[in-house]
Amino acid sequence: MNANTEQLRAREAASLMHTYARQPVAFASGEGAWLTDVGGRRYLDALCGLSVTALGHAHPAVADAVAAQARTLLHTSNLYFTEPQIALAERLGATLGWSDARAFFCNSGAEANEAALKLARLHGKRRRPDAVEVVALSGGFHGRTFGALLATGNPDKHRPFEPLGDWVVHVPHDDPAALDAAVGPRTSAVLVEVVQGEGGVRVVPPEVLRAARAACDRVGALLIVDEVQTGLGRLGSWYGWQTALAGRPVEPDVVCLAKALANGLPIGAIVARGEAAKVFEPGDHATTFGGGPVVCAAALAVLDVIEREGLVERAARVGATLARATTDLADRHGVVLGGRGRGLLQAVTLTEPCAPAVVGAALDAGLIVNAVAPDAVRIAPPLTVSDDEVEQIVARLDTALGAVGGRSST
Ligand SMILES: Cc1ncc(COP(=O)(O)O)c(C=O)c1O
Repeated sequence: MNANTEQLRAREAASLMHTYARQPVAFASGEGAWLTDVGGRRYLDALCGLSVTALGHAHPAVADAVAAQARTLLHTSNLYFTEPQIALAERLGATLGWSDARAFFCNSGAEANEAALKLARLHGKRRRPDAVEVVALSGGFHGRTFGALLATGNPDKHRPFEPLGDWVVHVPHDDPAALDAAVGPRTSAVLVEVVQGEGGVRVVPPEVLRAARAACDRVGALLIVDEVQTGLGRLGSWYGWQTALAGRPVEPDVVCLAKALANGLPIGAIVARGEAAKVFEPGDHATTFGGGPVVCAAALAVLDVIEREGLVERAARVGATLARATTDLADRHGVVLGGRGRGLLQAVTLTEPCAPAVVGAALDAGLIVNAVAPDAVRIAPPLTVSDDEVEQIVARLDTALGAVGGRSST
């Protein structure tokens, strides 16, 4: 650790709550897929924050949109109309292909899920007063606020904060029959991810999504797909559910978004269609900052770039290359089990719980990745990553795995 970082570490320890076990590096700037630390060393960013900076760092289109909007109008509250918010809602509806879409904007992924859960609660109670339950998947991650935390399928995260309530039922992420059995007249919504990002980059089988849609239709509940991590092109389709259910006319009622939407500025959104789009009425839900002109201008710039540069198709193509390369690493390193994921959300799976060591060795090799499970290393580069940068990601990972495994066959 260089002297500048050491100083920052000491100041951080004294001044900030100890909620993060940070890596021993402090970044000063970024450009495209590259970050530069306070000592001037460059790193290849194959994580994008946590799947956030999908256009890379300091994208000029986003920077220009933010600067122009900040100079024009930065905040008004939601008591008034502002054009960027309306334009963003229209654009998101178009990317979903929903002519009757309506959006609600907030500030984070957790807030998006909270909004979706509140919407489902109102919708359910209109059907019958006790239709307040939610069915979610074990291993799912939906955020740290109380409702989103309860929906998160990880008991270890619940325990310190209990009681959280008892209105969420969890079923295994890969068992359509269990999901079907859990949905009944008291269910207001089924909440799922398409690929469980924080849960270890675990792909939810399409049969589970199909079972979720059928079960919701059976009882009149809403299907909410949490696309906070998977949405906006990362999986090689605008939304993960589109890839998962290719060729099948199965759609969610509500989609939750955040992370990549403004390429790093705090924004969250839910977009609903049909009956679900009309549930909220004035007073039901609100936010001071959500949908402000600057973040919406940034998000509009993000959508422009994704469309103009064909980044959805690019994520599918480059993601396939990356997936092949990560599974190839298994031939070269005894410590690698294989790879899993979809598009540009991939993980290298390991035979031992040594992911933190691999992440540390990758940092030494100038590569940013993270341990998404003790035995899985997540790779989520920007959608703009070049073919050459993908090769460099794989080469640096190869170095890191060699350093950790000591069992490399080459
Ligand atoms: C699928 C999913 N939902 C929700 C969240 C929570 O988002 P935030 O940290 O912006 O509240 C995350 C964060 O990793 C996520 O991956």
